[in-house]
Amino acid sequence: MGENGGDINLRANEKETMKQQIVTPKRSLTKETEDLLNKQIVMEGTSSAAYLSMASWCETKGYETSSQFLYKHSEEERMHMLKLFHYVNEAGGHALQPEVSKIKHSFKSLREVFDNVLQHELEVTQSINQIVDHCFKIKDFATFNFLQWYVMEQREEEVLARRAVELFDLIGEDGVGLWMIDQEIGKLEAYAAKTSGQMGG
Ligand code: FEO
Repeated sequence: MGENGGDINLRANEKETMKQQIVTPKRSLTKETEDLLNKQIVMEGTSSAAYLSMASWCETKGYETSSQFLYKHSEEERMHMLKLFHYVNEAGGHALQPEVSKIKHSFKSLREVFDNVLQHELEVTQSINQIVDHCFKIKDFATFNFLQWYVMEQREEEVLARRAVELFDLIGEDGVGLWMIDQEIGKLEAYAAKTSGQMGG
């Protein structure tokens, strides 16, 4: 190969390298972390859909305050999901719209609704903790730091859900009990904010 031919090849290689850099810029978010965050997106999207379904059931049964509480929480879960969307995309990944299926539409009782909420929130906490642990191990401190918001949020969400379940034993479901429980559920936000020492969304 002559000198000119070598130059042309070199320039072609440089062009190819430039093209690759534009198409796939370097990023610190690993594929594994991106996948874990996308799984968390599925979880938050599922929470939003599940709480919307619970809100609807409560509304049809006349549990007005519980219904409002759950409609609001459905919105909050969507916000949790969107926060992850923006983080993943800004970090160079691709946030994926989750497939949400197997949403429960009917419940045996109001108590079952809030038992399900508590169970679900415990699973969300576990999932967040696993991603935080993963980020710490691989020294992805940006994502580790981003996830601290979720760690604190879960603390409040668990307090809310646990307190809701406790109401059923404290008040009892007989007579006007269920009506009272429904009223008390409306006061839980203020209670959780007070006990966790913060106002959270
Ligand atoms: Fe966003 Fe209640 O977990």
